[in-house]
Amino acid sequence: MGRCEHQVVGEDQPSRSKIVLVGFMGTGKSTVAGQLAARLGYGWTDTDSEVVAEEGCSIAELFARHGEPYFREAETRALTRLLTADTPLVIATGGGTVLSEANRELMLRHGFVAALRASEAVIVQRVAGDTARPLLAGDPAAKVRELMKARSGAYDFAQLSVDTDGLDPGAVAESVLSGYLGTSGLYRVSE
Ligand code: S3P
Repeated sequence: MGRCEHQVVGEDQPSRSKIVLVGFMGTGKSTVAGQLAARLGYGWTDTDSEVVAEEGCSIAELFARHGEPYFREAETRALTRLLTADTPLVIATGGGTVLSEANRELMLRHGFVAALRASEAVIVQRVAGDTARPLLAGDPAAKVRELMKARSGAYDFAQLSVDTDGLDPGAVAESVLSGYLGTSGLYRVSE
């Protein structure tokens, strides 16, 4: 079979019916997840909403009452539940989900992982005035700068990376969709 011919993958290579969006806060993961899910006829959710539903309080409250490590454990539980659910799903993850190696492995094992990127300026503009993200409390611009530096490379494990600056959410969703259809278990380019 020629290099560029597509071959439907057989039963020994199960299709991946989870798309996982990773990226820094304010890169538009949840908005794009909704658009992507609509295009595919999949459901969608985000790990933060799952944690809020499970814990019965907001992310900010959770950080304040129990601290970040407690939140990270709840986040991993939510991620595991979503990735192993028996239904096609687009999953938007919280920006720090990728910090755990176990989480990264889980995402790659069960899903197609796409990283959404945005410049510091765009992110600062998007999160300005935000009170829902405890890690940005105080001086959001300074916190974004500091965290982006600390997390540089953290999203590089993804199978696809989309630079979202200047793109609307629909265009970002289209890019992710092309990557998903091209490299996921649905279709594969034969070598
Ligand atoms: C976090 C990102 C947030 C949320 C929490 C921590 C992070 O999600 O999970 O405030 O560590 O980057 P978003 O990326 O959806 O803002």
